[in-house]
Amino acid sequence: MEMEKLVSLCKRRGFLFQSSEIYGGINGFWDYGPLGVELKRNVKEAWWRDMVTGHDDLSVADGAPETHSMVGLDCAIIMHPQVWKVSGHYDLFHDYMIDCRQSNKRYRHDQVLGRWVKRGDQRAFVTSMAGESVEDDLQQKALKLFRLRAKNVDELSWDGPVASLTTVDDFSQVLGPDAKELGTLTEPREFNLMYETHTGAMRDEKSKVFLRPETAQGIFVNFKNVLDSTRLKIPFGIAQIGKSFRNEITPRNFTFRSREFEQMEIEFFCHPDSSADWYKYWRDRRFRWYTDLGLAGERLRLRDHDPSELSHYSTGTADIEYAFPFFAEGEYGELEGVAHRGDFDLRSHSEGKLDPNTNPLEVEKDEHGQPRWRGSGKDLSYRDEVNNEKYIPHVIEPSAGADRATLAFLCEAYTEDEAPDDKGNMKTRTVLKLHPRLAPIKAAVFPLVKKDGMPEVAKQIYRDLKPHMNVFYDQKGAIGRRYRRQDEAGTPYCITVDGQTLEDETVTIRDRDSLEQWRVKVDEVVVEIQGRLSQ
Ligand code: GAP
Repeated sequence: MEMEKLVSLCKRRGFLFQSSEIYGGINGFWDYGPLGVELKRNVKEAWWRDMVTGHDDLSVADGAPETHSMVGLDCAIIMHPQVWKVSGHYDLFHDYMIDCRQSNKRYRHDQVLGRWVKRGDQRAFVTSMAGESVEDDLQQKALKLFRLRAKNVDELSWDGPVASLTTVDDFSQVLGPDAKELGTLTEPREFNLMYETHTGAMRDEKSKVFLRPETAQGIFVNFKNVLDSTRLKIPFGIAQIGKSFRNEITPRNFTFRSREFEQMEIEFFCHPDSSADWYKYWRDRRFRWYTDLGLAGERLRLRDHDPSELSHYSTGTADIEYAFPFFAEGEYGELEGVAHRGDFDLRSHSEGKLDPNTNPLEVEKDEHGQPRWRGSGKDLSYRDEVNNEKYIPHVIEPSAGADRATLAFLCEAYTEDEAPDDKGNMKTRTVLKLHPRLAPIKAAVFPLVKKDGMPEVAKQIYRDLKPHMNVFYDQKGAIGRRYRRQDEAGTPYCITVDGQTLEDETVTIRDRDSLEQWRVKVDEVVVEIQGRLSQ
């Protein structure tokens, strides 16, 4: 599938718009249109239902190690700034960026790819941004740099494979991705990804606060509140869906890397001895969630991190990844990370444990000479009254992005096939084969023509369905065109009132994917559609 086709469908049919488009747009921000908002809500509602409200506290389901509980939270986006100090985001949550003095563009250091190339005694590292055709792009750039025509391509000799710019120390021989001359890139500089703002009337250091870059910390700092206000016993999980903000240096690939996005996170608290089993459980359960909702093909994979990639406190992390069409062949993008976080977070918020990657000398001090990177001093341990044991729970964190999941479902659903038009001729049709739970509109009702009492019957069916689901009524234009519009919206069922309805009180129902049509009694439509949607 070509990404341009999906992007165009998203705009044309009202799934996604660039934010502030009439003012030229703003990079990294997106608005969901009338169909998009329903789709994304359905993704979030499926997650909430499957992980929280539909969770059975009394049974050991899905191969879980034991019974467990799940509850939700909805925390403020702006939190006490010390939260971000203790979590490590204030000091460590940064990317390295480089600027180009010629094109005035900014890049993430690790995202610039390039290759050494020689012509005679001239040598350069030509670069490009990761994408579908890096090799072709590099060749074009090398030809231009050495002022060669395409037919003289043999004069170029390539030295080694495509590699990240991070492998290059001296930038004087580097041709920036959008530069015309060598040596226009600056040295990499640290760039913190948190958005800053201020609370109250004074705009000074003391009033500085941050837009949360993840929802997880709200859960950790409320761990004791949840324990004290419920009768929860470990093991249990706390879930949250909400906006997060990261000032990404190079937002791109549609909504994949945005600056404002939504996360769906669970922090699952368990005994240290059983945490490895819970980690495996969540990793497999979360993978299944995507396959059950239609990402069943080869484009989805579960990738265990190599032990060398793990943070010091983690005994395991796995990414659930999807081969988005905007990546090069064989490349995948993260939909969700499932991480074993040990007791790092609760211990840090309690004691202020330093990440070993931080140089303690560089940690800011308060007016008493104490490191500002300090926990709350509150005891965030758990007391198991039955076994008379006190411990800091371990945490398993399945952390998903609602926008990335929505985009993956859209990419997977986008299909072009053949279907008959109004005259019975086979024509290419575009259809979104979304899982019925995710489809923005569940059913559409059409009168075949706008007369003979057909609209009245169709409107009554629409009203009968409306209390149960999002249903759409359309009486404009040729019936084939109305079907096509619903195919593009991903509507699983279309119900048509025709001449026969007036004789025998039956209507046709058309299945979006198989194009099969069958008749049911008008008064059985609600049960029929509900039954099929819940299959
Ligand atoms: N609490 C852990 C955490 O935030 P993360 O891997 O940084 O981990 C989790 O983020 C998920 O949030 C990612 O797997 C992705 O789906 C989503 N996400 C992260 N940054 C994003 C961005 N800039 N745009 C869209 N989604 C993003």
